[in-house]
Amino acid sequence: MEADLIIRDATLPDGRSGCDIVIAEGLVQAVGPSIPAAAREELDAQGRLVSPPFVDCHFHMDATLSLGLPRLNQSGTLLEGIALWGELKPLLTHEAVIERALNYCDLAVARGIGAIRSHVDVCDDRLLGVEALLEVKDRVASYLDLQLVAFPQDGLYRDPTARANLLRALDLGVEVVGGIPHFERTMEDGRQSVVDLCEIAAERGLLVDLHCDESDDPHSRHIETLARETERLGLGGRVAGSHLTSMHSMDNYYVSKLLPLIAEAGVAAIANPLINIVIQGRHDTYPKRRGLTRIAELQAAGVPVGFGHDCVMDPWYSLGSGDMLEVAHMAVHAAQLTSREAMRAAFAAVTSVPASILGLDGYGLEPGCHADLVLLDAEDPIEAIRLKATRLVVVRRGRVIAETAAPVSQLHLPDRPASVSPRRAARG
Ligand code: FE2
Repeated sequence: MEADLIIRDATLPDGRSGCDIVIAEGLVQAVGPSIPAAAREELDAQGRLVSPPFVDCHFHMDATLSLGLPRLNQSGTLLEGIALWGELKPLLTHEAVIERALNYCDLAVARGIGAIRSHVDVCDDRLLGVEALLEVKDRVASYLDLQLVAFPQDGLYRDPTARANLLRALDLGVEVVGGIPHFERTMEDGRQSVVDLCEIAAERGLLVDLHCDESDDPHSRHIETLARETERLGLGGRVAGSHLTSMHSMDNYYVSKLLPLIAEAGVAAIANPLINIVIQGRHDTYPKRRGLTRIAELQAAGVPVGFGHDCVMDPWYSLGSGDMLEVAHMAVHAAQLTSREAMRAAFAAVTSVPASILGLDGYGLEPGCHADLVLLDAEDPIEAIRLKATRLVVVRRGRVIAETAAPVSQLHLPDRPASVSPRRAARG
């Protein structure tokens, strides 16, 4: 059989090098050295890294690319961001949300993202964002997997119609139950919201992903309840706690008890390094907390840790470009994940780990997986993070869907080469 596409001489994220990847009928058919097969199209990776696509496990697509509408966040805090979003919400239109979301998806695909979990705010009786993103999900399905989370931004109980709207969103086809326990009026309301949301997910057979303890308050301990409810309802492997930034500020003794509880329950953690590093610690003078959760400690305890982009040009974050390597790069710095092993784990935190958190079918580069992959201008995952390497070719179901040229600068220097690229400079 003639294959559709063969990628020659690839290095894989697990370190295997000199691999050919044979693709036919949208699937990976074979992976290994020097495979004697023919294909309609061949791509020579020249030893570069070929990875399954990036997966963004935490995003807000209803708010993306809205920076400046209706004004900018002056304090940089989470609370002003929520207030600002509340000002923008009544002004949103179905068409504008769809257009911004599609524009973002174009950017994401070009950066090698193959799947996004996006929270969508249900605290709007029109459910405008929900209906818009369900339409976007259909429209991008051939090139991007979009998984939606029903997210009661203004509080499941704090907003009078949030709970009913959340159930309506789930009825419309939103597949993950979201929440924000630290934003409820009291610690007890927050605890009860976690119980309630987990029971809703258990009844409906859905996944759970709560904004959980996105706070510098060391007493914000809703992750404890999330782990307990996951265990009680048998939801292990289907639940994620997003942010968990209060763990940064918690007492070490308490964390030593908490980490095994999270691991035993089968709850995954999602850190959002770009957002956590700019939003948290805003009430501190000096020393100023970094505000990331305890990534290395969670990983060491056996908790799957994925990284999300969270925001791009919205009320909470004015930067970002759909680049999961930028996310991993920030995590490596802010959480000091600088050992070779920790940097490889940071690459996994934007690829294979979030793929399992989302429950993606057929993700990977083994035979039988979907032929979705990214050719990077890097020799391995560590160089990919270092350079935020160009995504030279993006393939979806065996078809090239995006290409980007590697950056090369022309030099005009005496007795020096005519050009330089970030990769070549490192090789001397
Ligand atoms: Fe978020």
